[in-house]
Amino acid sequence: MADSNIQIPFFDASASYHLQKEEIDRAIQNVLDKGAFINGREVELFSYSLASYLGVNHVVPCANGTDALSLALMALELDKEDEIIIPAFNFIAAAEAVALLGLVPVFVDICENDFNIDSSLIEGKLTSKTRAIMVTHLFGASAQMDEIKTVAEKHNLYIIEDAAQSLGSEYRNQKLGTLGHIGCTSFFPTKNLSCFGDGGAVFTNDAILAGKIKMIANHGQIKKYEHEIIGVNSRLDTLQAAILNVKLHKLNEAIEARRNIANLYHEHLKDVEKVQLPFESPKTVHSFNQYCILLENKLVRDALKEYLKNAGISTMIYYPKPTHLQKAFSICGGTEGDFPLSENACERILALPIFPTLDIQQQHYIINQLKTFISDAN
Ligand SMILES: Cc1ncc(COP(=O)(O)O)c(C=O)c1O
Repeated sequence: MADSNIQIPFFDASASYHLQKEEIDRAIQNVLDKGAFINGREVELFSYSLASYLGVNHVVPCANGTDALSLALMALELDKEDEIIIPAFNFIAAAEAVALLGLVPVFVDICENDFNIDSSLIEGKLTSKTRAIMVTHLFGASAQMDEIKTVAEKHNLYIIEDAAQSLGSEYRNQKLGTLGHIGCTSFFPTKNLSCFGDGGAVFTNDAILAGKIKMIANHGQIKKYEHEIIGVNSRLDTLQAAILNVKLHKLNEAIEARRNIANLYHEHLKDVEKVQLPFESPKTVHSFNQYCILLENKLVRDALKEYLKNAGISTMIYYPKPTHLQKAFSICGGTEGDFPLSENACERILALPIFPTLDIQQQHYIINQLKTFISDAN
């Protein structure tokens, strides 16, 4: 039975603040007292701490995850109209970063089980102009990195990993974002490691690329008022860095909490007919930034979303339209049917609430409501 008193949000933005309130308040107050709001010790400390967490040589913090992708591409010094492979089912940022630099996004379909780029389709999309594969590790699940690295090595391509939704996830015991040439992430409030506003970072083991990314993010300056190349202004605010320094200590705990929630969903939903649950490859550690299920078709998905909403449960559709069918990317000439699994996922996918403070009663309520809907529908 739906309980009219229950309201379960899709995400609780202030919960992570209350979990570490005293430390975060102190960190913010410290920055306010010093009155130094740009760069400084907090940003430097965060770069070193995140590099150490990821096991990577260099971290360059920046203003947001979209900038991180642009900075990564800019550092590769590509020519106009060079081609970049990206998945068709994705958050829009990768395609934007590519197109805004005069590069050409070349879409590839996804695997149905993990929603990530299908590595077996990449070679069929390569031309003499292909320069890089931008891999998004969607929802916290790793893409097929062994296979992607094999293709990239064979064809001399860069790999840029978008780990915005998968910071802390692993592939063969290595953190996502550190397997290719450059990794990118976002600290948007819904991410695994989040700040209280916008933030992002680029990471790499390559000292030359790191130097270039740092320079580009700082107006292309080699030293103050000496502009070596045309750059941008993309900084992580000192206040956000101070918050992230506190929250980074709890990242593993937050991922563990997400994994426990995912396990409970899995345990109770695995035998529900016509509901496909998220896949975790044995080579990986999934961080469950999102818990996305696939329903039988759009009609059932939309009806379930409405049913859960009426029962006080918020859900989200990530994503309702693939990039090749977005008006903004009509210049790429994509049409319906080009990427069937991406299009199919958009029609059938539904993200259930998953955030570290979602409690067990709330979860059982979600599970029961979902099961009731499915059994009534079947
Ligand atoms: C996969 C992915 N890439 C990039 C971004 C862009 O990050 P930001 O919002 O910090 O610019 C996001 C943000 O939602 C994302 O989910």
